[in-house]
Amino acid sequence: MHNLAWWQSAVIYEVYPRSFQDSNGDGIGDLDGIIQRLDYLVGIGVGAIWIAPIYRSPMADFGYDVADYCDVDPIFGNLQDFDRLLIEAHRRDLKVILDFVPNHSSDRHPWFLESRSSRENAKRDWYLWRDQSNNWMSNFGGSGWEWDELTSQYYYHSFLKEQPDLNWRNPAVRAAMYDALRFWLDKGVDGFRVDVMWLIIKDDQYRDNPSNPDFGPDQSSGNSLLPVYNSNRPEVHEVVAEMRAVIDSYPGRVLIGEIYLPVKDLMTYYGQDLNGANLPFNFLLLQCPWNARAIAQVISEYMTMLPPGAWPNWVLGNHDNARIATRVGLSQTAIAAMLLLTLPGTLTIYYGEEIGMTNAFVRPEDVQDPAEKRQPGIGMGRDPERSPMTWDCSDTAGFTRGQPWLPLGADHRAVNVEVENCDEESMLNLYRRLIALRRAHPALVSGQLRSVTSLGDLLNYELATDHVRLMVFLNFGHSPVQVAAESGIVLAGTDSRRRAERVGNFVELKGSEGIVIKIPS
Ligand code: NOJ
Repeated sequence: MHNLAWWQSAVIYEVYPRSFQDSNGDGIGDLDGIIQRLDYLVGIGVGAIWIAPIYRSPMADFGYDVADYCDVDPIFGNLQDFDRLLIEAHRRDLKVILDFVPNHSSDRHPWFLESRSSRENAKRDWYLWRDQSNNWMSNFGGSGWEWDELTSQYYYHSFLKEQPDLNWRNPAVRAAMYDALRFWLDKGVDGFRVDVMWLIIKDDQYRDNPSNPDFGPDQSSGNSLLPVYNSNRPEVHEVVAEMRAVIDSYPGRVLIGEIYLPVKDLMTYYGQDLNGANLPFNFLLLQCPWNARAIAQVISEYMTMLPPGAWPNWVLGNHDNARIATRVGLSQTAIAAMLLLTLPGTLTIYYGEEIGMTNAFVRPEDVQDPAEKRQPGIGMGRDPERSPMTWDCSDTAGFTRGQPWLPLGADHRAVNVEVENCDEESMLNLYRRLIALRRAHPALVSGQLRSVTSLGDLLNYELATDHVRLMVFLNFGHSPVQVAAESGIVLAGTDSRRRAERVGNFVELKGSEGIVIKIPS
């Protein structure tokens, strides 16, 4: 695809490293395991992998508590293994994106150990210490402030108390973190996904958050407080622009931001003059009710609000949200795949979605996720979507020769790569076909998105370039529909047998069926 950066045309594949492939039998995935599966990833057609944190960590939040930003945790391997992974990936034309966790470190990071040792320590101001707490909450529930006996002050943590927040108002913190970015950029990593980008800077006056007027006794409207002073502060954009400058000092790298905000606020993370994140992750499809009308609305809204020159992106799943097949139901997973893979811009797939994995059942005694342990039983747990990748029909699904760290999905003997490779109509082959279609038809990646409409259960949109028009029809209902189209040729369908079918002015779609039609110009 001409004139596009690699990160604009690539499909990004998220690898949750603990769960992808174990190579040493300890039941936890590792870097060597990822290397073993690179050919599989090339075979699906993805262009980049984003690997969730592999840094040295006590694993209180499975790597999102970093104890050394410039080393690999022994669970995953070592720096030489990482270098090999990079060489092997690049040899196959696959880009490698790392996670970067700037908002907080581990409480075992030497910086925090020093900071905690005395009020006079040179690193005291690297974290957020206060004599008094305020009403800021932790995103994992409860107060975000932890009392420290030794120095008789509180420190703030947006997540676990084992994840103290760094003080991004301190220039020394910024410099140290940018050095960490350079460490990996010098090695040749192709970019970063920045964890909780919108939380990095907090109010310098530590003002209390206001109460949420929409919060009802049934707790249906989110939190009791509005996170006005500890999230999405105006100064965050200065930090993001600085990160971007570091990234841009190396050619061909990408900066992606994890941002859960309303779409209007999300757009500000592209930065003034587009000097912010190249891709502020767009999670609208993760949060949207699953019906044609709501989806048409979020697509139109997102595309309309994109700043001029900003590049769109879409995410269907990640390691913090229920799997798509579980969210929308088995019959709709192919529609979900076709929706994602026919939208313009950069797409991110979560490992296992391409084979239609569902949330695994995790017994209370097997729970690993600290979010679930801290607030049991209210649906915070993320273990179900982190179950091991299922590669074959064996007892441990080809993931490990040991005991998997999380239970396998109950459906693992039917939902796995080995079985789906042999079935033309499998989810895996649908993903392969659709990614190949994107590669063959630039209109799908960079075409102009037009006339996004819904009629009942039917969602319809068109992607156009000067040379071609592609029409996408997706049936979100279970009953057949007749669709008014234009005469053309089916390029792809959830049912592979419809490929090359000539259609006239009307097309029949079965329940949960989708097609892409090419209209001759
Ligand atoms: C967002 C990550 O995706 C999530 O897994 C993690 O628990 C929090 N940030 C804290 O780092």
